[in-house]
Amino acid sequence: MDLRAALKEGMAQLRAAQIPSHTLAAELLLMHALGRDRAWIYSHPEEFVDPAAAEKFSALIARRAAGEPVQYLTGKQEFWGLEFEVTPAVLIPRPETEHVMEVALARLGERGIKIHMDTGAPREKLRVADVGTGSGCLAVALASELPHAEVSATDISPAALEVARRNAARHGVAERIHFLQRDLLTGLENTDPSSEGARHAVPASADGAALFDLIVSNPPYIARSEAAQLQREVHDHEPHAALFGGPTGIEMYQRLVDQARDLLRDRGILVLELGHDSADHVRGIFDAQPAWTKVAITMDLAGIPRVFAAERAR
Ligand SMILES: C[S@@+](CC[C@H](N)C(=O)[O-])C[C@H]1O[C@@H](n2cnc3c(N)ncnc32)[C@H](O)[C@@H]1O
Repeated sequence: MDLRAALKEGMAQLRAAQIPSHTLAAELLLMHALGRDRAWIYSHPEEFVDPAAAEKFSALIARRAAGEPVQYLTGKQEFWGLEFEVTPAVLIPRPETEHVMEVALARLGERGIKIHMDTGAPREKLRVADVGTGSGCLAVALASELPHAEVSATDISPAALEVARRNAARHGVAERIHFLQRDLLTGLENTDPSSEGARHAVPASADGAALFDLIVSNPPYIARSEAAQLQREVHDHEPHAALFGGPTGIEMYQRLVDQARDLLRDRGILVLELGHDSADHVRGIFDAQPAWTKVAITMDLAGIPRVFAAERAR
């Protein structure tokens, strides 16, 4: 069978299985099976597909038709212009999460990111935390954008942290990201020299609390009660610890905001991704705490309130 016929057959099988974007999916899986890019495939339509590659392609098509996301089949997803390894241990990075990057960088940029936020003096390190790092997409992209940043990236899942570590190494920022298995930010204020946090030189204030300039998070925010409405690609294949925030989906935000309040420096910035209907609830949390100023919500491209940002008041 030649390439054109193989691709046509793959597309037909995915269309019959009602897979969204079946053309793109078949192309990506063929590229993966052959180890070739799209330009090569379309410039060699009559190339013979050897039996081993044809078998690999056919197996990938069958798995996609059965609901597995393309990204878990190819093992990769782009985020912020960088290629990330993804496995079923991590959430597939979403385009919406790039808004977290945009808001965080814009807020830092407004103030001159190489300046000490309190004194205006130059400073060596910018201290950043990424809570629920998953594939490490936010931590790695921030470390890449901010060469003077030192990042603490937490996750409850050891398997996710392994993937995140590999992504940090792949992009040459592993030295500046400290991966910590934690419940949100719990324990980051620990300055016991024998503790994991202390070994990784998490910044500490005089009273022992770790202090950050920026905390970002895309926490699990889907309600358990919405599980049945999720696409099967998501529900059956992505890690439930990455999806579900609790019975109502908003459970993580209160704890996260409370911890961030205690761990941010004065004028430190908190940037949170929001679930599709969590904006009012999250605003309520901030409104109830005088510790915050410059509270703002950013919409995503679909007009949904997607990112919440605030500054720790002096
Ligand atoms: C929505 S995913 C976000 C992953 C990644 N930051 C991204 O934007 O693609 C949420 C992540 O939080 C982690 N997580 C869930 N509960 C947690 C907790 N209590 N403490 C720390 N991480 C948690 C999950 O394992 C998952 O990796």
